[in-house]
Amino acid sequence: MTETVAVFGAYGHTGRFVVAELRDRGYLPLLVGRDAGKLQAMAMAMAMATGSGLGYRAASTGDPASLDRALRGTAAVVNCAGPFAATAGPVVEAALRAGIPYVDVAAEIEANLDTFTHFAERARAARVAVVPAMAFYGGLGDLLTTAAMGDWTTADEVHVAYGLSSWYPTAGTRASGTVSRQRRDGRRVRYTGGRLEYYVDGADLPTLEWDFPAPTGPRKVLGEFTMADVVTIPSHLSVPEVRTYMTVEAAGDLAAADTPVPVAVDERGRSAQTFVVDVVVRRAGKERRIVASGQDIYAVSAPLAVEAVHRILSGQTSTTGVASAGEIFDAPGFLRALYPHISVTPAV
Ligand SMILES: NC(=O)c1ccc[n+]([C@@H]2O[C@H](COP(=O)([O-])OP(=O)(O)OC[C@H]3O[C@@H](n4cnc5c(N)ncnc54)[C@H](OP(=O)(O)O)[C@@H]3O)[C@@H](O)[C@H]2O)c1
Repeated sequence: MTETVAVFGAYGHTGRFVVAELRDRGYLPLLVGRDAGKLQAMAMAMAMATGSGLGYRAASTGDPASLDRALRGTAAVVNCAGPFAATAGPVVEAALRAGIPYVDVAAEIEANLDTFTHFAERARAARVAVVPAMAFYGGLGDLLTTAAMGDWTTADEVHVAYGLSSWYPTAGTRASGTVSRQRRDGRRVRYTGGRLEYYVDGADLPTLEWDFPAPTGPRKVLGEFTMADVVTIPSHLSVPEVRTYMTVEAAGDLAAADTPVPVAVDERGRSAQTFVVDVVVRRAGKERRIVASGQDIYAVSAPLAVEAVHRILSGQTSTTGVASAGEIFDAPGFLRALYPHISVTPAV
C-alpha cells in the first residue's frame, strides 16, 4: 500500500521539492500548511501538471487539533515550514501524539537544539524517530563527517567548509536568519571546547583562504560562519572543535537585502547554484577528508529528507528518539543512496 507522508509547509520553496521527491520515490504526499488557499492552488496546479491530484489539509501551529487532523492516517511528517522556532515544537508534539516519525529541514541552531533538549526523553520513550536538520545544512555535513570518521569514535576537530557559487535566499531563509539573530541578541555562536559558546565580537568575521579540491580550488571563506552542523555533529560524535566556513561571495549574497530569490534553470526546478562541501576531520596529527558536490542547496535538501523518511519507514535505523542523520542512519549507505543528486569523493 502506498504510504502517505504529510509535508508541513508544502507550498514553500523547499516543501515543493520535498513533495516532488516523495512522489518520485513512490510515496503519497499530503499537502499541509496554514493557508488553505495556497494549499488548494498547489493541489490544483499539480493535478493539471501531472494528471493526478493530491490531498491537502490546512493546519496551524496554534491549533493542535488541526495538526492532529492533518496527520491522521499518515505514516510520517516532514516539516518544511520555517522559522522552525515557531513550528518545530508544535509539529513534533503532533507527531508524538500520532505516533509517527518526524523529520525537519531546520537550519536554525537554537531551534535544532530545542528539539534535542525538549523531546529527547519523550521521543525515546515513545520509540518515535525525530530527526531535525535533515537537509543540506546540518544533515549532509553530519553524514559526511560520520562517514569520514570511519572507525574513529573521537576526533580533535572537524571543519566543514561550504563552497557555494552564490546564495539566493528564500523568504523562509531570511526569516529564519532574523529569528536566530534575535534569539542571539547581538552575540555570535561557535562550537569550541566541547560546547556551544555565545560570545560578543564587534569585529568582522575572520576571512581565510580554503583550498577546495579541483575544480573549485582556493577560495576566500568566512570563518566562524556557524551553521547547524555544530548541533548535529557533536550530538553523537565526541569532537571538541566543530568549525564551519562559508565562501565570501555566498555570505555576501545572503547578507544583501536586494539579492533575488532562487530562479529555476532546469526541469526539476533547480537553480544554477552549485555547492561543494569539504569536510576535514583531524585526530592526533592524522587527517581524513571527504567532499560532496552538487547543484542547489534547497533542491538537494529534498532527497536528504525523503531518504531519511524512507529509511525510517523501512526500518533502516540504528536508534530511536531524537537523533541526527549521522547517528540514526548508516552514513556511507545513506550517502550512496544520494548519488543521483550529489557526488562524493572519495566514494564511500
Ligand atoms: N537545513 C537546510 O539546509 C535547509 C534547506 C532548505 C530550507 N531550510 C529552511 O526551511 C525553511 C523554509 O525554507 P523555504 O526555502 O521553503 O522558504 P519559503 O519558500 O519562504 O517557505 C516557507 C514556508 O514556511 C511556511 N511557514 C512559515 N512560518 C510558518 C508558521 N508559523 N506556520 C506555518 N507555516 C509557516 C510558509 O507558509 P506561509 O506562506 O503560509 O507563510 C511557507 O510554506 C527555512 O527555515 C529555511 O532556512 C533549511
